[in-house]
Amino acid sequence: MSDELKRKAAAAALEEVEAGMRIGIGTGSTAEHFIRLVGERVRAGLEIVGVPTSERSAKLSREEGIRLSTLEDLPELDLTIDGADELDDNLNLIKGGGGALLREKIVATASKRMIVIADSSKHVRQLGAFALPVEVVPFGLGSTERALARVLSSCGYEPRLSLRGGRQNPFVTDGGHHILDADLRHIADPDALSDALLRVPGVVDHGLFLGIAACAYIAGDGGVRKIEAAR
Ligand code: 5RP
Repeated sequence: MSDELKRKAAAAALEEVEAGMRIGIGTGSTAEHFIRLVGERVRAGLEIVGVPTSERSAKLSREEGIRLSTLEDLPELDLTIDGADELDDNLNLIKGGGGALLREKIVATASKRMIVIADSSKHVRQLGAFALPVEVVPFGLGSTERALARVLSSCGYEPRLSLRGGRQNPFVTDGGHHILDADLRHIADPDALSDALLRVPGVVDHGLFLGIAACAYIAGDGGVRKIEAAR
């Protein structure tokens, strides 16, 4: 059911894709629906070029026959279409459940517009039920984790951090980093939290996407709803 809703959200966003566009291609199961739908259009003659946000999405895009490029060759994109783990009414997001948050944020901010596609279970009143992914460099992992715990405490959160994949076999991102997932329950002030996290040496980035998304297509039982950012 939720997979069908993800496909519907992806299909609605496909309407925004026009010939000649430079498109940032997201990561995750919802983005994969989008990639397959774009692939169908490409095989029917649509000419676009895509910049993928992960090796996984790059592979699927190639299999679908989508022409790919890089931000070196195309530093500005027209549109990025990507999923999210949570989104609120202001279109602030938590991303990184699929481990691609760094490339996703770079690609989204290199785009004139970012469009989020999601099933309605991702739409929340307040961010934070989904553990916030924090991408960190492997060097100094133990110290970075302690520093993060201190920062989270000083921001009023109980510091519940877990290394994705575990100590024995930690998950490695496409950029060669690890992810600490911070279980925060409720994020009262996303901007303050973002600033505090980015001040910790060893933190590369985090999964809060604040003021980046322009609109979202959210598919629920009653159909697909479009939400625009109030900016
Ligand atoms: C990957 C992401 C994904 O967009 C997010 O995890 C949503 O995934 P899905 O569409 O599979 O629910 O941020 O890093």
